[in-house]
Amino acid sequence: MDCSKTKITISEMVLPNHTNNLNTLFGGKLMYWMDMAAGICVYKNTKKMSVTASVDNISFKSPVYKGDIVTIDAFITRVFNTSMEIYLQATTQNRKTGKSIISNNAFFTFVTLDEKGKPVKSIEVVPKSDEEKKLYDGALRRRQLRLILAGKMKPEEADELKSIFD
Ligand SMILES: CC(C)(COP(=O)(O)OP(=O)(O)OC[C@H]1O[C@@H](n2cnc3c(N)ncnc32)[C@H](O)[C@@H]1OP(=O)(O)O)[C@@H](O)C(=O)NCCC(=O)NCCS
Repeated sequence: MDCSKTKITISEMVLPNHTNNLNTLFGGKLMYWMDMAAGICVYKNTKKMSVTASVDNISFKSPVYKGDIVTIDAFITRVFNTSMEIYLQATTQNRKTGKSIISNNAFFTFVTLDEKGKPVKSIEVVPKSDEEKKLYDGALRRRQLRLILAGKMKPEEADELKSIFD
């Protein structure tokens, strides 16, 4: 399946119960929406149950205000074996100006599971556009880095990251 065909989009309006004490969007709520978008993306494309294995760093570039519309696009960049990387981009449309800005992006890793909850391989994805190819190539590097950080890979085994750790 082409990476682009795996894309899903969800939108949410920022309501009072989504905000923090500054009346801007609570960061944890945005992370929840991103996790949900990634989960929907995985389920729609694999028809399998899945869990979030890891979340790469998320930066919050600018505040999101009450009444703004947050739209999250999610697509699968690369499938490894039982795990896959999902790229998420959140765009915020300001309620007053109508202007949209990219407010956040992140990579989530999900693992697909069989009926007994055991990790299982699901689909394959193929990058087609230049952006998809770049993300596909970089996914191997990011995977090794997150496995090292999780204590599941030794730095010396990370052949894609030699230049960082040597
Ligand atoms: C994620 C989970 C299924 C991995 O299971 P495991 O027993 O460690 O299985 P494995 O070591 O065989 O790893 C399975 C896959 O997960 C990947 N993985 C495990 N930990 C990871 C991490 N921290 N980051 C990225 N990928 C990870 C492995 O690389 C492997 O991928 P691959 O098959 O593509 O090579 C398990 O740790 C788990 O269930 N965690 C809890 C998930 C959860 O509750 N999430 C939040 C709520 S949805």
